Amino acid sequence: MSDAYSGRGNKDRSLGREPGVSQGDPVAKGGAARPAPDGPFLIGDAMTGGYGKGADILHSCTIAVERGEIAVIVGPNGAGKSTAMKAVFGMLHLREGAVRLDGEEITDLSPQDRVKKGMGFVPQTSNIFTSLTVEENLEMGAFIREDDISETMAQVYDLFPILKEKRRQPAGELSGGQRQQVAVGRALMTKPKVLMLDEPTAGVSPIVMDELFDRIIEVARTGIPILMVEQNARQALEIADKGYVLVQGRNAHTGTGKELLADPDVRRSFLGG
Ligand SMILES: Nc1ncnc2c1ncn2[C@@H]1O[C@H](COP(=O)(O)OP(=O)(O)O)[C@@H](O)[C@H]1O
Ligand SMILES: [Mg+2]
Repeated sequence: MSDAYSGRGNKDRSLGREPGVSQGDPVAKGGAARPAPDGPFLIGDAMTGGYGKGADILHSCTIAVERGEIAVIVGPNGAGKSTAMKAVFGMLHLREGAVRLDGEEITDLSPQDRVKKGMGFVPQTSNIFTSLTVEENLEMGAFIREDDISETMAQVYDLFPILKEKRRQPAGELSGGQRQQVAVGRALMTKPKVLMLDEPTAGVSPIVMDELFDRIIEVARTGIPILMVEQNARQALEIADKGYVLVQGRNAHTGTGKELLADPDVRRSFLGG
């Protein structure tokens, strides 16, 4: 998997929009010079907050992804991984901290407006409409678009051929791995500039997990940075440019995927030795 991963570039056809810009190309489409802003493409910076009026779940927690990269968040159950993702997507009120996308502060935007800005999010649960067909799920994913979605749908079917085969079937009849493909495909239908995935391989077999990771790497290759939570920590860190270990709503360890895999503390506490 790491072979396929190395040399990842932005050469392929793109599911995302303005891939050159999201890669930090100084010349934006349309000709206007626009230097890439410094810092990560997407960052939840020093986020503190919780649900409603409840106690803080996140404590100055930072997660981010750079242009062209895959960032992975791991950590024990209840560490706040999903909460951190929801906070970045605008589903949680932050008491402190900020969210920035491509250098722009978006902390106060609604999730809908973040989708319009180019964020795609696949939540951990209830991420598809089980009673709708596969194709209807993809169409629902494109709800904010007013242009022709057929090309994007063809790209999603290229990426996940099984979905084309099953496009007339209710998504609820699909296997776990296929449902996750529907969920990722649905998020891709908005042509996101960045994709956030919360446990995309939850509940699937190791073989299906490998396949899903390969597809995720393929999406990253088209120029869409990926910020994902994974419970398969070791395998996920192997494909990660950057890794975050969260514990009790705090950043416990941060480094490249390689660094975290080699870190004795991380190995002992989170990777089973
Ligand atoms: N919707 C919610 N309302 C209130 N508390 C929640 C909600 N979702 C999660 N929590 C709490 O937030 C903490 C972190 O949960 P979560 O972010 O789901 O962890 P993880 O994804 O790392 O397993 C847990 O204590 C959990 O009980
Ligand atoms: Mg979770």
